[in-house]
Amino acid sequence: MLASTSQLVLRNIEDLSGKVLLVEPAADSLAQELIHQAPQLELSCYSTDTAVATNWQHSNVKLYTDVSPNFTDTFDTVVLFYPKSKEQLGFTLAQIKTAIGQQTQLFVCGDNKGGIKSLSSHAGKLGLSANKLDNAKHCLWFSLFGDFSQLADISASSFTISTAGESLILHSLPGVFNHGKLDTGTALLLDNLPQVSHGTVLDFACGCGVVGAMLKRKHPAIELFSSDISQLAVKATELTLAANGLSGRVIAADGLPDTPKLFDCIVSNPPFHTGIKTDYSIVESFIRQSAQRLAKHGSLTIVANSHLAYLELLQQAFKQVEVVAKANGFVVYRAH
Ligand SMILES: C[S@@+](CC[C@H](N)C(=O)[O-])C[C@H]1O[C@@H](n2cnc3c(N)ncnc32)[C@H](O)[C@@H]1O
Repeated sequence: MLASTSQLVLRNIEDLSGKVLLVEPAADSLAQELIHQAPQLELSCYSTDTAVATNWQHSNVKLYTDVSPNFTDTFDTVVLFYPKSKEQLGFTLAQIKTAIGQQTQLFVCGDNKGGIKSLSSHAGKLGLSANKLDNAKHCLWFSLFGDFSQLADISASSFTISTAGESLILHSLPGVFNHGKLDTGTALLLDNLPQVSHGTVLDFACGCGVVGAMLKRKHPAIELFSSDISQLAVKATELTLAANGLSGRVIAADGLPDTPKLFDCIVSNPPFHTGIKTDYSIVESFIRQSAQRLAKHGSLTIVANSHLAYLELLQQAFKQVEVVAKANGFVVYRAH
């Protein structure tokens, strides 16, 4: 199944030539389609999403997964998929600017629902210009041009939170969940963390690392694991742990990380989106797998919007489920 944005890339395949860099594409079969329809192209992919990188790994495409990759050469064509969060556009362009030469043709593709319609004004603010070239499949295809070398490098931003009697310095990068702010649901989770004095603890879908950092601050003897599908989140979490002098293993993984096999405690504000689309399948499999990956007497604590039907999902997978707190449209559940 191809995302609409990928279908628009194929519709404009004539625009692609030579060495092509796909930037933050969707997790679909675009690579295989491009190889099939245009075998003369030399494909590379830059993605900070672990699921996308895994998808493109099998397709004989050169992969760049570091947040700040080291490009040794420029490309003939760059196709950038418009990011979900606006501030990520300037950030991503700055990460790839050494891959853009004088002759590079840069195209931007995005879903109308993802905000691509405002690309021209957005590009203007970055000192660039955009030209709309195609409009189909509820998506737009633009060319983007200007002096990319003038784009400023954006470093991590930091902010401090004080909650539950502790304060923490949090680091974030554009594209990380709720960039630079504490989410209301996460705040409720922080006030209702499990009492866990030791053992292996996983902060699943860690974002900027706030939940795991707070657990480690409160309970220094725990062995902390933090995981997220996004390399941007992984980098932000590493910076957050370091800024607070905390230790922990930070893992890039789609779903639960493979190791360790068992956790004494899993804590999460789990995702229910893939890109701009609502996707409950992630949380369904996360809850099911958590039940299998918890040690005897282990617990799962999650926060969710109160309109989401997580209680039923938890009751299907766990013997004992309780509502620990309810406030501001969010619920914290604990399951044993
Ligand atoms: C609601 S945010 C929570 C972030 C952070 N824990 C907080 O409370 O601020 C959900 C996180 O899930 C991550 N995510 C999305 N899909 C995922 C998947 N399949 N596996 C692991 N993490 C995923 C996102 O990158 C995002 O950081």
